[in-house]
Amino acid sequence: MARIPDAFIDDLLARTDIVELIGARVPLKRQGREYSARCPFHDERSPSFTVSPTKQFYHCFGCGAHGTALAFLMNYDRLEFLDAVEELAKRIGVEVPRDTRARNEDGESRDLYAALEASAKFFQNQLAQSAKAQSYLERRGVDADNRARFGIGYAPEGFNGLKDALGTDERRLRLLDKTGMLSKSDSGRTYDKFRDRVMFPIHDRRGRVIAFGGRVLEKDDGPKYLNSPETALFHKGRELYGLWQVRQAHAKIPRLIVVEGYMDVVALFQYGVSQAVATLGTATTPDHAELLFRNAADVYFCFDGDRAGRGAAWKAVESVLPRMRDGRQAFFLFLPEGEDPDTIVRQEGAAGFDARLAAATSLSEFFFTELSKDVNLGSLEGKARLAERAKPYLANVPDGAFRDLMQQRVTELTGVGARAVNESPSPGLGMRVSRGAPAPKRSLVRTAIALLLQQPQLALAIEPPYLFGVLHQPGVPLLVELIDLVRERPDIGTGAILEMFAEREEGAALQKLASQSFPGDEAAWRGEFLDALVQLDKQTRRQRVDELNARIGEVGMTGLSAGEKAELRDLQSRR
Ligand code: UTP
Ligand code: MN
Repeated sequence: MARIPDAFIDDLLARTDIVELIGARVPLKRQGREYSARCPFHDERSPSFTVSPTKQFYHCFGCGAHGTALAFLMNYDRLEFLDAVEELAKRIGVEVPRDTRARNEDGESRDLYAALEASAKFFQNQLAQSAKAQSYLERRGVDADNRARFGIGYAPEGFNGLKDALGTDERRLRLLDKTGMLSKSDSGRTYDKFRDRVMFPIHDRRGRVIAFGGRVLEKDDGPKYLNSPETALFHKGRELYGLWQVRQAHAKIPRLIVVEGYMDVVALFQYGVSQAVATLGTATTPDHAELLFRNAADVYFCFDGDRAGRGAAWKAVESVLPRMRDGRQAFFLFLPEGEDPDTIVRQEGAAGFDARLAAATSLSEFFFTELSKDVNLGSLEGKARLAERAKPYLANVPDGAFRDLMQQRVTELTGVGARAVNESPSPGLGMRVSRGAPAPKRSLVRTAIALLLQQPQLALAIEPPYLFGVLHQPGVPLLVELIDLVRERPDIGTGAILEMFAEREEGAALQKLASQSFPGDEAAWRGEFLDALVQLDKQTRRQRVDELNARIGEVGMTGLSAGEKAELRDLQSRR
């Protein structure tokens, strides 16, 4: 992917009027320095969605959705990153810088998309001419609407149908090959990869065909499903079959249902359950989990009830836990032996399927049930084992209420952590604000970070080296990192900073600090910020005096070097 310079993105965000951008899509009301609305990313009655023009970001206190103008375009207009960048650049009338290599690649990928699109058309035409394939689809109850919606086609028998139709010259043959549509014999001859199969095109997030799945008509005719190989355009661990169609059907996707097969997605759609997507013959990856939650806050995973199904469900758990920001929910539905969503919805209709979803197991329930297997919770040893098993998983859950509640559940089940829960230092910063609890007294470091997030350019008021950089307090390395970041990218806004930390442990805490409003104006913040740093410097000197005194305790005054003695005198005279 073409890499776009950070400075360009910073500038883009700084010059974009986020209020205008979001206001064109969501009715905003002015409230003091900020604007508010009912959140477009979750259902709510009273507005908890805010847009801050000065901080250049949006934040929902209800569901935790947040980000920059770029993130908004990605989540609301569902654009990919590069397209969102293009969109913002277009709005302010600038060109997106790209190196020539990237431009050539873009040229080639355009040709690859075109070859895949032409292949899909070819298969659809073939379907129209094949009584056999049509009757197969009829037998499986796929009606004309659904055939069109999913672009279903038919790859003819024989070895050269597609190759002859589309590979008319060397260049086009090479393109077909690069899109994975051809196979090669030992003798080096190429031929159609998909033969005598019902073809399901796989679309990307913008509705472009990027790969195919093909199903045999008759049993015993090779593998039941054949999928395109991984290509420059297709990475199966990142794509979800049906997501494009779901997006087309919903302005706002209420939930996503993850199933295993192409036909499950198609059948559910036909019976009115228009929120199903399928992983492509792979386990649910972390990329899938992120993509799912980007599109819907509630995700249901459907699996067979057998052992393989539960194994696959656990894989999904592992991929989902690190993405469980507050407001997101995952559920698990296990189907009876021998059934899949396709057969269930045909027997029970949408209402029956919905009822099963409503009774699905929650992530937390499934998690603890699985972890407690072969553990005797009546014994101390069993409790210890469960606590030990849960630890690495919970460590991966993003900071927030869900993680706190999961931790609490471990404590209820095992008693482990009962005393420590409220006093445990929160990861990284020691600055977690827990919901409902009285606001903790803000430490100096916290104050400095919070002010910096209100107005990143405050960092330009100081010069390295920073004395306080060696202070042993939680959050100090982060404060230094933030200051360095702003000094390196002086145009950076709050939103862009948060974006950079989104995947890091400190991200959630920074987000919370950034969304607080500070009284006063820029001049007042500046005073407060510099004052906090002066105090921190003072504490650093005290820390150093303590260190030197500790050394004296160990080696005596005479044991200090001349330099250390001078330093101590200097420090004491400053007091
Ligand atoms: P299933 O074997 O459960 O088939 O494979 P299905 O979805 O119920 O298909 P129908 O109803 O018989 O048509 C589930 C998924 O696993 C992948 C495919 O993505 C399929 O949709 N798969 C299966 C393969 O990739 N290759 C295979 O040979 C079989
Ligand atoms: Mn099936």
